[in-house]
Amino acid sequence: MDRDKPILVLGIETTCDETAAAVVERKADGAGRILSNVVRSQTEEHALYGGVVPEIAARAHVDLLDGIVDRAMKDAGIGYDQLSAVAAAAGPGLIGGVIVGLTTAKAIAMVHNTPLIAVNHLEAHALTPRLTCSIAFPYCLFLASGGHTQIVAVAGVGDYVRLGTTVDDAMGEAFDKVAKMLGLPYPGGPQVERAAASGDGTRFAFPRPMLGRADANFSLSGLKTAVRNEANQLTPLEQKDINDLCASFQAAVLESTADRLSVGLMLFEEKFGPPRALVAAGGVAANRAIRGALQDVAAKAQTTMLIPPPSLCTDNGAMIAWAGAERLVLGMIDTMDAAPRARWLLDANATAPAGYANSRAGF
Ligand code: KG4
Ligand code: ZN
Repeated sequence: MDRDKPILVLGIETTCDETAAAVVERKADGAGRILSNVVRSQTEEHALYGGVVPEIAARAHVDLLDGIVDRAMKDAGIGYDQLSAVAAAAGPGLIGGVIVGLTTAKAIAMVHNTPLIAVNHLEAHALTPRLTCSIAFPYCLFLASGGHTQIVAVAGVGDYVRLGTTVDDAMGEAFDKVAKMLGLPYPGGPQVERAAASGDGTRFAFPRPMLGRADANFSLSGLKTAVRNEANQLTPLEQKDINDLCASFQAAVLESTADRLSVGLMLFEEKFGPPRALVAAGGVAANRAIRGALQDVAAKAQTTMLIPPPSLCTDNGAMIAWAGAERLVLGMIDTMDAAPRARWLLDANATAPAGYANSRAGF
C-alpha cells in the first residue's frame, strides 16, 4: 500500500444493535474525511424487551445491512471499484450480528477483489479521535458504553494497553438497569440523566465503588443493587423518588469515575509520559454530567479533554472504516479466514478481571 496516496475504505458495524456502514477517506497527509455515514439504530425492535435481544438483533442486521451498505456507497458517490479496502467489525460483540457484518464484508471483498480488514470494535472506538482531529499517539481513552467500560492507553495502531476495566457490569448497562428498575424506558442512560437533572443527588448515600483503590478498575454491580434495595423500600415510587434515586446514583457514578480516571491517568503517565489528551467514547460519554467530570479530571492532570461528536461516540460505520484505513496503510490486511469473535481483548497482554466470565462488559 502506497502511504502517500489517498485511500477510500468502506466500514461495516453490526456488533450490537446498530446496523451501520460508512465510507471514509484517508488523505495522503493522514487526515480523515467522512464521505458517508449511515446508522440504523434498532432501538424500537428491542424497546419492548427493555434491552438488546441477540437473536432479534442478528435478524434485523440480515434484513437491513444490504440496504445500509448500498445507501453508504450512494451517499459517498463512489463505485465499489474505487474502494481501497472493505473493513468490518469482527468482534467483540453479539456473535450473530458480527457474523452478518463480517460475512457481508467478505462477500464484497471477494466480488470486487479488494482487501478485507477485520477490525476490533474497541480499536475502532480507540482510533476515532484521529479521524476527527488527527491527534498524535499516545493518548488515554475512556470508553464507556452498554458493553464496555475501559481505560486504555492508545500508544499506536495495534498497540494498546488496558489500564482499567469493569469487574462486573458495564457503565451503560448499569444506567440501563437502574432505568428499568425505576420503570423508565430503554435505553435508560438518557432517561436517568434527565430524571437526575431535577433530583437531589444527596438524598441517598449510595456507595462509591472502588474509591481510593490503587488499580484503575471499575465496579457498578454493587451500586446498582444499592439503588434496587432503596427503590424496593420506597415502593410505590413517586416522581420525586425516581428523580432523587437517579440523581444519587449518577452522583455516585461521577465520583467513582473521576477517581478511577485520575488513577488511570497516573498509571498512563508512569508508562508513557504525559498523555496528549484524555479522550472519551461510547454512549455514556453523551452524559453531560459525566462530560463535566471528565473535564475536571483532565484539567487536574493538566491534559486536554477530547470527545468526538456524539454521532461518532456511539457505534457507527465511520469508526470501523477509519480503523480499516489506519491498518491498511500499515499493511495489516486480513484473509478470508478471519473469524468472527464474541470476545476479543484489545490488549493482547491483558488478563480478564474477576467476574469476566459472567459479564458482557469484560470483552
Ligand atoms: O456506545 P453505545 O451507543 O452502544 C453500545 O453499547 O455499544 O452506548 C449505549 C449505552 C447505553 O447503555 C445507554 O444507556 C448509554 O450508552 N447512554 C447513556 C447516555 N446516553 C447513552 N448513559 C448515561 N447517560 C446518557 N446520557
Ligand atoms: Zn461500541
